[in-house]
Amino acid sequence: MLRGKHIVVGITGSIAAYKAAYLVRALIKKGAEVQVVITPAGKEFITPVTLSALTGKPVVSEFFTANDGTWHSHVDLGLWSDLMIIAPATAATIGKMANGIADNMLITTYLSMKSPVFVAPAMDLDMYAHPSTQKNLETLKSFGNHIIEPASGFLASKLEGKGRMEEPDKIVEVIETYFSKKEDLAGKKMLITAGPTYEKLDPVRYIGNYSSGKMGFALAEACAERGAEVILIAGPTQLQLNHPGIKRIDVESADQMYEQAMTEFQHVDAGILCAAVADYKPEVYADEKIKRKEGDELVLKLVPNKDIAASLGKIKREKQLLVGFALETHNGEKNAKLKLEKKNLDFIVLNSLQDEGAGFRTDTNKISIINKKGERTDFPLKNKKAVANDIVDTFIKFM
Ligand code: PMT
Repeated sequence: MLRGKHIVVGITGSIAAYKAAYLVRALIKKGAEVQVVITPAGKEFITPVTLSALTGKPVVSEFFTANDGTWHSHVDLGLWSDLMIIAPATAATIGKMANGIADNMLITTYLSMKSPVFVAPAMDLDMYAHPSTQKNLETLKSFGNHIIEPASGFLASKLEGKGRMEEPDKIVEVIETYFSKKEDLAGKKMLITAGPTYEKLDPVRYIGNYSSGKMGFALAEACAERGAEVILIAGPTQLQLNHPGIKRIDVESADQMYEQAMTEFQHVDAGILCAAVADYKPEVYADEKIKRKEGDELVLKLVPNKDIAASLGKIKREKQLLVGFALETHNGEKNAKLKLEKKNLDFIVLNSLQDEGAGFRTDTNKISIINKKGERTDFPLKNKKAVANDIVDTFIKFM
């Protein structure tokens, strides 16, 4: 499972730092390539010599090497890594991660990470239980980070309680489970729609909406990372993706999205329709720029667009799955249930503009999933990648 995986191990200043050597060794024994990044305090507890001997790589600690000026790029590490694990993670480091205080190489590496981050806290029981630590851990979870809860037992302080860093073997198990889970869409083909649509009025104007594409792109990434082959039909957005498992088809209007979706849906196992598709388009497209006429009102006649979700719902094969979104401002559950039924969806993801941090353009979302039986599961506010994984987890149960 770990063969060939690139893992960044972050080590901070805790007595549990000695366990990091066992963790590094266990990861390497499983075939992973490991790069250690250590804080200055971490070096007081375990020497870089031990760690570089285990990994076969120089340990990264400073932004550059003082004697020859070699620059250590945290950005490159962020791109290289398949996973980052910070073990042990002290209260100070957790606080800095939660608040973006980039005053050492480990934090800048964390902030540059493109891959999932796991955090194994280690500290005294009272420090762990303190509301500020708990709040910071909740913040890290809301960023999509995975917390490996500390165990209870004897602590370096001679006290007994919760705060011991989880044992290296257990941490390796968690990482292996994560990678095995990541393959749970292997062999599946998914269609995802994302972003807004633009309905042209004339050569310089259109009717559009505020969708950025972030939620749909996070879904495409999550599905591809979990092994699926993804066809992403994207409305106009500046977002970029470079996962080899994603084939991107750019469209502008609802009609173009409809054509592509109807064609591609025939070749996939499932569709997740996250695009904010315009329900109406101008009846007439003016070839020339519409001129302002003093004193005159401009009346636009709009005609309905095709409903992509409902059309796919009609041609859905027995084993195909179809998931839709409902973006609501009021009567969320009632409207979502109506859409679920009308569009023949397997489940619907409800997000409401009444929830702070949810919906358009934000990096976070707050969703509820409603299934055909009308059962509703509420999720807390999370970053869109974590939300995407929650949707995929639900989706897997239907397959
Ligand atoms: O892109 P972001 O900035 O990250 O914002 C994410 C989001 C808010 C756009 C996303 O989370 C979301 O809610 N997407 C659906 C928006 C929407 O159009 O909802 P709706 O309730 O109007 O549509 C219901 C469902 O029918 C959706 O799955 C939609 O894709 C689909 N639909 C709607 C109209 C239409 N003509 N064809 C469709 O397929």
